[in-house]
Amino acid sequence: MFINYALNICPLNPLLYNETKEQRAEIMKELIEKINKLKKEKNAVILAHCYQNIEIDEVADFVGDSLYLSQQAKKTDADIIVFAGVYFMAQTAKLLSPDKKVLLPRMESGCLMADMVNLEQVREFKAKHPGIPAVCYINTTAEVKSECDMCCTSSNAVKIVQSMGEKEILFLPDTYLGKWVERQLGNVKVITYPGYCPTHLKITPKDIKEAREKYPKAPVLAHPECHTEVAKLADFVGSTTGIMKYAKESDKKQFIIATEKGVADRLKRDCPEKDFILIKDNIICPNMKWHTLQDIYNALDKEQHEITVDEEIAKKAIGCIDRMLAVSK
Ligand code: 13P
Ligand code: SF4
Repeated sequence: MFINYALNICPLNPLLYNETKEQRAEIMKELIEKINKLKKEKNAVILAHCYQNIEIDEVADFVGDSLYLSQQAKKTDADIIVFAGVYFMAQTAKLLSPDKKVLLPRMESGCLMADMVNLEQVREFKAKHPGIPAVCYINTTAEVKSECDMCCTSSNAVKIVQSMGEKEILFLPDTYLGKWVERQLGNVKVITYPGYCPTHLKITPKDIKEAREKYPKAPVLAHPECHTEVAKLADFVGSTTGIMKYAKESDKKQFIIATEKGVADRLKRDCPEKDFILIKDNIICPNMKWHTLQDIYNALDKEQHEITVDEEIAKKAIGCIDRMLAVSK
């Protein structure tokens, strides 16, 4: 149990503004017990992305990046999946497990990047570049996926594009991830849609240079959603889980984390002997942080808010995700 640690770092949790620390610990403990009991009774599983408020790990069955969570969503035999992540993640879980009830604790939890492209815009993008296969980042709606040839996540994007054997591909919506893939491969032209993650774009090259001056021995670990000029300055670029794995396995003692705060929080919790410096205090995805333990309890108790996908859209979107999973086994 990491309640004390969680208590120190979850200032965004609206449940916990006015209580004393002891009262907050008690509330959390009770909620954790109630959620775990309800999970068993309802044969439910909780999937949590590693940008979630850290106390959610106490009730989560699986915590990880988008690829790992979609793999878990596909293979679970639970009746209910509660997704502590953003909307597109819960929607992907529904596509992969259509017979299960998939619940998103807070419907406000969208992804600003995924919202940058809709069905009409993906069609326009394809029409401008006829005949070129389209790869969509998993951070897209089912509608957008239904129009694309292949899906990818930040952890498998390079492998996926390589596996397609094309000279040119369309990539959407994240222009920076697309351009990073192009630089890694060197022999594929990646035509990108102008989408981006507002949270990752808060990180600037100046931030990296200043952090390096202050902590000269610490490698910079960045997410590929960062701006190209930031990614170029990093020592390692990878998915959220990739960054955590790199830091845990490294002999180094100090690291500069250039992604969302949840990754730095989990690393500090898991490796107290190492030092993790979040590049800036405000690298927080507000949408990921909506879910609280109380919301998770409410979702399970009332079986709210259920995610559904139009059948025709689902039929086409699932192919796009399944082709990705087949390459990423
Ligand atoms: P990961 O696939 O690395 O978990 O990233 C998801 C995401 O939304 C990062 O902003
Ligand atoms: Fe979307 Fe960016 Fe939040 Fe990831 S960090 S969920 S890309 S808004």
